[in-house]
Amino acid sequence: MDENEKQYIYIIQASLEPSKCKIGKTNDLDRRLKEYNNITGVSKENTYQYLFTCEVADMAVVENDIKENYGYLREEKSREIYLYNSALLKMYSDYIKTHKLFVEEIFIKTDNKKETIIVKKTTPTLKERGLATVDILNKAKKTKNDEFYTRYEDIEKEIAMYAKSVWADKCVFCNCDDAVDTDERKSSAFALYFMRNFKELGLRKLICTHYGGGLDLFNQGAKGYVFTYVFTREGFKEFKEYPKGYTGSFDDPLSLKILNEEADIVCTNPPFSIAREYWKIVIESGKKFLIISNITNVKTGSYIPYFKNNQVWAGYNRVDYFFNPKKQLTDASGHWYTNIPINDRPKYKHLKIVPLKEIPEKYKKYDDSKILLVDNCYAPSNYKKPFAVSVRPILNGLLEKGYSIIEEKSYQPYINGKAIFSRVLVQKV
Ligand SMILES: C[S@@+](CC[C@H](N)C(=O)[O-])C[C@H]1O[C@@H](n2cnc3c(N)ncnc32)[C@H](O)[C@@H]1O
Repeated sequence: MDENEKQYIYIIQASLEPSKCKIGKTNDLDRRLKEYNNITGVSKENTYQYLFTCEVADMAVVENDIKENYGYLREEKSREIYLYNSALLKMYSDYIKTHKLFVEEIFIKTDNKKETIIVKKTTPTLKERGLATVDILNKAKKTKNDEFYTRYEDIEKEIAMYAKSVWADKCVFCNCDDAVDTDERKSSAFALYFMRNFKELGLRKLICTHYGGGLDLFNQGAKGYVFTYVFTREGFKEFKEYPKGYTGSFDDPLSLKILNEEADIVCTNPPFSIAREYWKIVIESGKKFLIISNITNVKTGSYIPYFKNNQVWAGYNRVDYFFNPKKQLTDASGHWYTNIPINDRPKYKHLKIVPLKEIPEKYKKYDDSKILLVDNCYAPSNYKKPFAVSVRPILNGLLEKGYSIIEEKSYQPYINGKAIFSRVLVQKV
């Protein structure tokens, strides 16, 4: 690539696909738009238009960071297709505009009959707009997009990995919109799974709460409720209660009371937009948990201390699909996380712990700060200094093989002054 060539990130949409957008990189915005429109034959019915375009200092890094951050919003197997609505567009563009490699926004006017005109206009700086980076990030974080529903088979597959004794005589608490209804299409897969397997697991009690404040996916109404399921001498008993003023939020005083006084194991897929608050509450409760969250949490600053301090570790499986609000399968990048002991993790076999000289050259390099970066699940067995790894080896159990995270934040390597994928710094104990 010509070093002087400009690098751009774009968000583009086809007029017939209003629930999707594509986020990609290019050196030539004009050409890329024509390429897209050539695919559809510039048909009048389906034309592509840019929704957002900007120049960046390193398009590959920005594109990859978007994939890592918003992987759960990707709609198709293809990595560049993301879910779209105007709130999401704002979240994507705010993220790009506050990325450290962002240069300037480019405004494009498309004239369908003629050429694409690129109107160069510099975005006012944050300072000119009277904003700090943190304002934009906070805004982006507030854009909630939590409506992703767990598939029954993902729950079944993960729970099958744990000894039955983990569940025996326990009260399971599903506290994030795990609705229950006589029509199972209106129940969350967590609720269904634990009701169906109640006896098999030897559970004592199941408590599920419905959150009344979000998009009402399970058609359960705007009132929070508590559903309790127990097995008594007279058989299964269930109760649905709508306590006055109860929101169903995991941090509602009643939910916290159930968490602290009744729950033994918390199990759910909490909302992505407030996962940080959720993790804090559940981890601080000291209860056992098995939850789904973003696969990149392992290298995300606010979660790293939990992994470093051994308060949480990866469960057995990743979660590649969820249902979206239209009940369509959506691919995503989730993973199970837990504090339930993991025995003989099958994924240990993906770790390649070998002496440094046996790691192929292409999987080891030193960054500008002389920190060793190791890829492809390799880890040097005879290296005493800190080195940086990606999420994969951590999810495969590296921290259970004599290595520890040594910094409570993610590590940003630079090579020849260019930022590359962020990682986590670990060291052999
Ligand atoms: C990722 S979805 C998962 C839903 C369900 N647990 C499942 O796994 O299918 C997260 C759900 O949490 C709900 N939610 C949002 N804020 C919440 C809160 N403060 N307390 C409880 N649930 C919340 C969202 O509306 C959404 O339905």
